[in-house]
Amino acid sequence: MAIFRAMSRLSRAFSTIPSHPLRVCIVGSGPAGFFTAEKMLKTHQEVHVDIIDRLPTPFGLVRFGVAPDHPETKNVINQFSRVAENDRFTFFGNVTLGSSVSLSELRELYDVVVLAYGAESDRVLGIPGEDLNGVYSAREFVWWYNGHPDGRYLNPDLKSTDTAVILGQGNVAIDIARVLLKPTTELATTDIASHALAALKESAIRKVYLVGRRGPVQAACKTKELREILGIKDLYIHVKEDDLVKTPVDEEELKSNRIQKKVYELLYKAATSGTSHPSSGQRELHFVFFRKPHRFLESDERSGYVSGVNLEKTVLKGSEPGKQIAVGTGQFEDIGCGMVLKSIGYKSISVDGLPFDHQKGIVPNNEGRVLSGTNKDQAVVEKGLYVCGWLKRGPTGIIATNLYCSEETVAAISEDIEQGVIASSASFPKPGREGLLQLLDDRNVRVVPYSAWEKIDSEETRLGSLKDKPRDKLTTMDELLKVAVD
Ligand SMILES: Cc1cc2nc3c(=O)[nH]c(=O)nc-3n(C[C@H](O)[C@H](O)[C@H](O)COP(=O)(O)OP(=O)(O)OC[C@H]3O[C@@H](n4cnc5c(N)ncnc54)[C@H](O)[C@@H]3O)c2cc1C
Ligand SMILES: NC(=O)c1ccc[n+]([C@@H]2O[C@H](COP(=O)([O-])OP(=O)(O)OC[C@H]3O[C@@H](n4cnc5c(N)ncnc54)[C@H](OP(=O)(O)O)[C@@H]3O)[C@@H](O)[C@H]2O)c1
Repeated sequence: MAIFRAMSRLSRAFSTIPSHPLRVCIVGSGPAGFFTAEKMLKTHQEVHVDIIDRLPTPFGLVRFGVAPDHPETKNVINQFSRVAENDRFTFFGNVTLGSSVSLSELRELYDVVVLAYGAESDRVLGIPGEDLNGVYSAREFVWWYNGHPDGRYLNPDLKSTDTAVILGQGNVAIDIARVLLKPTTELATTDIASHALAALKESAIRKVYLVGRRGPVQAACKTKELREILGIKDLYIHVKEDDLVKTPVDEEELKSNRIQKKVYELLYKAATSGTSHPSSGQRELHFVFFRKPHRFLESDERSGYVSGVNLEKTVLKGSEPGKQIAVGTGQFEDIGCGMVLKSIGYKSISVDGLPFDHQKGIVPNNEGRVLSGTNKDQAVVEKGLYVCGWLKRGPTGIIATNLYCSEETVAAISEDIEQGVIASSASFPKPGREGLLQLLDDRNVRVVPYSAWEKIDSEETRLGSLKDKPRDKLTTMDELLKVAVD
């Protein structure tokens, strides 16, 4: 309630402003949300921007995706914190679109609604055994080690097996492999969740397979991340030399893609240098190419638990560089393991009343303007409704990609303001944040303002300093809300 009273005082302060500024609500406080807020506030001196987030903590995947041993990547938080200092900006944490407030309610309350709530589900393989114990999505596992409240109780069993298979070879797969294989002494001084550090310290996993359905020329990881994992101290790396044979289409592909060329060269070097066998007790990383998952194998000893992955060998088809696809050959092989991490991409979720392309997992849009109607020719622009980030483009792109994405969305909003498509009515101004606070109060939603997040931040930093960590994350909603309201 203390929080709510503070918010009410804040809204009263704002309600003394005489004109009727455009009211903008952004859903999601990840990079897409914050870059959009920053750009809107800079471009339009008169707008008020509110961000709602379902969590009491802002910054989305910068907090819950970026690997704990990449602290420099999180410096973007300083930029976002400066946005939060703007008088025309308010953060409402612990407010969920879909349960605390519906989309139609938000559209009633605000002149402009920008959806930037990311991708909080997973692509699925749709193969037998996918729901066996020990099979996790990368998102779940990353949430677990990064202290997301929804990942707190995953408790992956790292003790009963010495082998993990990671399906997919993108940067997320590389992050996970690194966390599993890196000496825990190096993770101990990061902001990794304490429960994850404790489990990793006791981990029996020694061997990690990174499985790609295509070849080393098509590996989705990037140079810096690959170089980093290949450089882990005392790690045995295995790449089959046969997999490095290039076709003429591969050669064309490498000519036009500098990053892919470097990735291939690194893999080539790893395959042809180093020892041919691991030394006793050495941790191992195996790159497996041209294999697609066919089914998960169930353990005979432990019913309901995974004991391996059955993979189908593939060949690449297609003559256009960059467009080759993996096709099964009908030959199969197994890799035995007690844990599988599916790192084949995140997926966005729809909310009631939102046009959604379920196949692509995105909100249909034209440069950020949300479109309804199934047929592209008959698409209707949803007035005042916009989209940005992974929800707009799909689950790819680094943090900076969302900067360009938000510029496009804000340009569309600006154009619509200029053309009078959206405007704040002087006679019937939209209620904006005052209306939202009233609605949330009626529903007993405990809103967490930015100042309360700052309390959480200080507490985590304090706890971290006791353990020589930059922060020790609070990892349950109860802990977070307790510190927020104190
Ligand atoms: C594991 C992982 C590691 C990554 N590492 C890096 C890296 O090192 N460097 C880099 O440049 N990029 C990295 N990326 C990519 C980068 O994180 C993304 O490009 C970026 O975060 C996408 O931004 P977004 O705002 O669209 O989504 P998100 O960052 O996911 O933000 C979405 C926000 O919406 C909120 N939300 C969700 N549902 C609701 C709802 N119903 N109501 C209200 N709020 C809601 C969430 O709590 C979240 O705060 C990584 C991605 C992943 C998955
Ligand atoms: N350090 C960083 O900068 C960093 C860290 C983490 C993430 N990110 C970014 O975040 C984004 C998401 O990363 P991501 O790793 O989740 O996605 P990604 O880069 O798109 O990689 C997905 C991987 O899954 C494979 N895959 C997809 N569907 C599959 C299927 N049905 N069967 C088998 N394999 C399948 C893909 O293979 P195909 O290529 O054959 O489709 C690819 O290897 C990326 O843009 C990434 O760069 C950046």
